[in-house]
Amino acid sequence: MFGCVPFIFQNGRPSVEVVIVSDAKAGGELIAEAMAELLRHKPDALLGVATGSTPLPIYQALAAKVDSGAVDASRARVAQLDEYVGLPAEHPESYRSVLRREVLEPLGLDVDAFIGPDGTAEDVRAACEAYDKALAEAGGVDLQLLGIGTDGHIGFNEPCSSLASRTRIKTLTEQTRVDNARFFEGDIEQVPHHVITQGIGTILEARHLVLLATGEGKADAVAATVEGPIAAVCPASALQLHPHATVVVDEAAASKLKLADYFRHTYANKPDWQGI
Ligand code: F6R
Repeated sequence: MFGCVPFIFQNGRPSVEVVIVSDAKAGGELIAEAMAELLRHKPDALLGVATGSTPLPIYQALAAKVDSGAVDASRARVAQLDEYVGLPAEHPESYRSVLRREVLEPLGLDVDAFIGPDGTAEDVRAACEAYDKALAEAGGVDLQLLGIGTDGHIGFNEPCSSLASRTRIKTLTEQTRVDNARFFEGDIEQVPHHVITQGIGTILEARHLVLLATGEGKADAVAATVEGPIAAVCPASALQLHPHATVVVDEAAASKLKLADYFRHTYANKPDWQGI
């Protein structure tokens, strides 16, 4: 049945593990539990966080675990995936502000726990290099959360980004600016054209990559990511190069997967201790 599918098994895992969940809340809970488990073993873990709408259920579920005492996140550290160029840090839609609101404050962390690129630096190239260096000096990202663009971008590595790229400035596609206008009063003119994003090579250095995708609008990108060839035209397909990459999708985002039944079967029969 899978004769034509080039699966690579490493450490007993398929190259990308796909977990199909009922809805966004269930995906958020599953991933928050993986983060909590990481923090129980490594209290000062460096958590790589993404912005956008998709990860919000993860952050809510993790904050609930902290509130209930199920996990202590007081020593957690947080690293930013990407940032708009030119938005002052205090702008409500700078990703630094968004992450302060959605992640740091709910987890009870202060800004000392946070590292991110400087989107207002005069020398953007130096700021990008400095951020890659800061990530390495922090010991590397333990678990990197990712969303996915409708065009398959991760971070803001738009189609045809180098799969070996480092943190750098990128120009957003018109589609991504249209998608993000909802955070800027629906006004595309307010959406910056440029971002600093961790490169795909930088992202691949995290120890565990966890991508959450929800909604039918992501179904084509998800199918290309896990069942298509590794190709820069779908930047997220680079996850296939990583020894520990997990893609969590709701039913709608899974709707174009040819191997959905296989993914359901392998996850249902996985040993409990293995986690994601
Ligand atoms: C943002 C980021 C982007 C988003 C993607 C999906 O930090 O990394 O790749 O994850 O644009 O955005 P949403 O979740 O809003 O659909």
